[in-house]
Amino acid sequence: MTGAAPVLVFDSGVGGLSVVRRIRALLPSLPIVYAADDVAFPYGDLAEPVLVERCRSLIGDLVAAHDPRAVVIACNTASTLVLSPLRAALTIPVVGTVPAIKPAAQVTRTGLVSVLATPGTVKRDYTFDLIRRFAPDTAITLVGARHLAGLAERFLAGEPLDEAALLREIAPCFVEKDGARTDVVVLACTHFPLLEDALRRIAPWPVTWLDPAPAIARRLAEVLGEEGACGPASADGTPVDLALASSGRDLTWLTARFSDR
Ligand code: DGL
Repeated sequence: MTGAAPVLVFDSGVGGLSVVRRIRALLPSLPIVYAADDVAFPYGDLAEPVLVERCRSLIGDLVAAHDPRAVVIACNTASTLVLSPLRAALTIPVVGTVPAIKPAAQVTRTGLVSVLATPGTVKRDYTFDLIRRFAPDTAITLVGARHLAGLAERFLAGEPLDEAALLREIAPCFVEKDGARTDVVVLACTHFPLLEDALRRIAPWPVTWLDPAPAIARRLAEVLGEEGACGPASADGTPVDLALASSGRDLTWLTARFSDR
């Protein structure tokens, strides 16, 4: 890693890599430390106070150890709860990932939008508030998929994808009502864009899959300003400069596998 301060990208597992690839594309020379809380994965079913406390303490330790210039919470499930406490506790910018409900409401033509997320994200006030503010006239179907993030983890680790299980997880997103069909599905968990090719292949009908990662990368670039473009581009083309797991597990495999996804 160069001497420049990195950006810390945090998720419960490998999902945040869907955000990293967009950051890399936009800010190729920015050093990135990736941290996965694999001990507590999946975050989707964790009780709210446990999740808040865990993220606050882990991210606090990571910030103290790596002195990043900004933190990206590349996890919807965590962002819907921890953005405010983290912003209050840290002096560096914190960029979050929240369900792309506003763009979905702008893009839909049929007025039927589904939000595909973890069970945690679909029951948060944060999500309900986004719907009230930005999509009051859109029929939103909230789908809390219990096994999808795990399928993405195993797929990225090199296991074959169980497409029947994948279809079971996404089926409730496909709604037909009064002759209209869902035409937009919000990928409201960072793990899901890692499965996008398969999602397109097995979907009951074609829809727009909304991945918020490009917008998160643009937001980070905006927050960093000129600082984001520091130093030479990463010479070896690896997606992250350092990958850490809360279990201490070696995540080098993760960066290697990710480059061809
Ligand atoms: N990648 C995470 C998200 O964006 C959560 C996956 C999980 O831990 O359940 O919500």
